[in-house]
Amino acid sequence: MEALTTFRSMDESTGEEWAAIAKSVSGDNGAMVDRVLTMLKSLQGSSLCMPIDPYEHCLQTATRAFKDGADEEIVVCALLHDIGDLMAPQNHAEFAAAILRPYVSDMAHGVVLLHEIFQGYHYFDKVGLDRNLRDRFRGHPAFAAAAEFCASWDQAAFDRSYEAMPLAAFEPMLHRVLGRPPYEGNTTDRVDFWGFRINMTPGGAAA
Ligand SMILES: [Fe+2]
Ligand SMILES: [Fe+2]
Repeated sequence: MEALTTFRSMDESTGEEWAAIAKSVSGDNGAMVDRVLTMLKSLQGSSLCMPIDPYEHCLQTATRAFKDGADEEIVVCALLHDIGDLMAPQNHAEFAAAILRPYVSDMAHGVVLLHEIFQGYHYFDKVGLDRNLRDRFRGHPAFAAAAEFCASWDQAAFDRSYEAMPLAAFEPMLHRVLGRPPYEGNTTDRVDFWGFRINMTPGGAAA
């Protein structure tokens, strides 16, 4: 495909060029869904010593959430919550939360971000850690939702005999959620680096 932009450095780029770039990025939702699906499928077979692999665990978590009537964005969050198990094993919650953040509510983003520590309520005591570590987040708006996410769906989704819905059943939901206008329902600061907070909503100023 012929490039619509010709700048050699960003300093010499034009507003028209950035408009073309923005259109290209926001119009490529289908390709993004494909990449997310490929990443999810790449978890197949990597057991990580768990009873089922992370791919099956994601399907099972999403199925349980769906069957309990969870909001569609939470079902999608359940499907993707461990997508970073291999790419970012030490902070996989942040990895998944970063992918989802532009397209889900602050609450759903908080659930994904907190799930790694909140899941610990169900096993940290078995590895010599404090299972109540999540208590440091008392008062967080997503506390109750994250606790429920883990208790009802995530920690319960390692059952080898459970029949999860196929990935294809979730694909339309994935397209709908990742097809939302980015940051539409996002009210929290988009970037918070050591206290330097920036809210990059369109037209908004850094705060
Ligand atoms: Fe996780
Ligand atoms: Fe999980």
